Amino acid sequence: MSVVYLNGDFCPIEQACVSVLDRGFLFGDGVYEVLPAYGGYLFRLDAHLARLDNSLAGIRLDNPHSHAEWDDLLNGLVDRNGRGDQVVYLQITRGAAARDHAFPAHVRPTVFAMSNPLPSHRSTSGVKAITARDIRWDLCNIKAIILLPNALLRQEAVEAGATEAILHRDGMVTEGAASNVFVVSGGEVATPPKSAQLLPGITRDLVVELLYEARVPCDERPVPLQELRGAEEIWITSSSRELVPVVELDGRPVGNGCPGRVWEIADGLYQDYKRQVREGGAD
Ligand code: PDD
Repeated sequence: MSVVYLNGDFCPIEQACVSVLDRGFLFGDGVYEVLPAYGGYLFRLDAHLARLDNSLAGIRLDNPHSHAEWDDLLNGLVDRNGRGDQVVYLQITRGAAARDHAFPAHVRPTVFAMSNPLPSHRSTSGVKAITARDIRWDLCNIKAIILLPNALLRQEAVEAGATEAILHRDGMVTEGAASNVFVVSGGEVATPPKSAQLLPGITRDLVVELLYEARVPCDERPVPLQELRGAEEIWITSSSRELVPVVELDGRPVGNGCPGRVWEIADGLYQDYKRQVREGGAD
């Protein structure tokens, strides 16, 4: 039975209850983070907390905790769930109040966090993806809990026998329904630049950083949909899936239909980094 954190207390998940008037439930009025722990060590905690600050500022909600308090709280959660490899989910909503679209005057935010064993769906043989029009809003840099468009897009992928939907807006790639996107074309790695059209992925940033250190150039620049369709390699990245090669796009093979050479290099760097985290030598 997993132990969760809710508004100041740790308790078994079955005992955690939130009001039906919670604005997260009624309006999707909240933000979240997902971060892995390897060997019990939280991965890139500072980067996740910095992104959480930006998301909270984006919805005009004060952070109920300092970074030091988050550190204690999340490590306390990972400890109570037996350390090892886990995936931590945290969510802050504006709290429970009589239903009104406008913000309530005095209300305590709802703070919830849970941790589960890290799913072992890391794919090294590659996955299928589809392309889809990005139907989301103009603030995709906020990690908002309102994920209905993402859920619809991801479901479209699943029903097409694929793992992910790669989204495009005005002829340009933005990101996946729940991941960031990299391409290799003409031997060069590229990923769309950060903007309000995509989530600034922590995994994405680390991959860019590791490639840079290994002197494998990665350009952060707009990626046209046409370029994606002709790419030699496509990868998707996220905290729970890590670095996944896409070997089929809209039913057609990507490159030679196998994970690419550059992906192998990038994934090798990522796995080495993870090993250091697990040994307590990196964050
Ligand atoms: N989602 N873009 C979107 C829309 C995402 O939902 C995610 C991750 C990412 C990758 O971000 P990161 O590398 O920081 O995980 C990009 C998480 C895992 C989720 O919603 O479960």
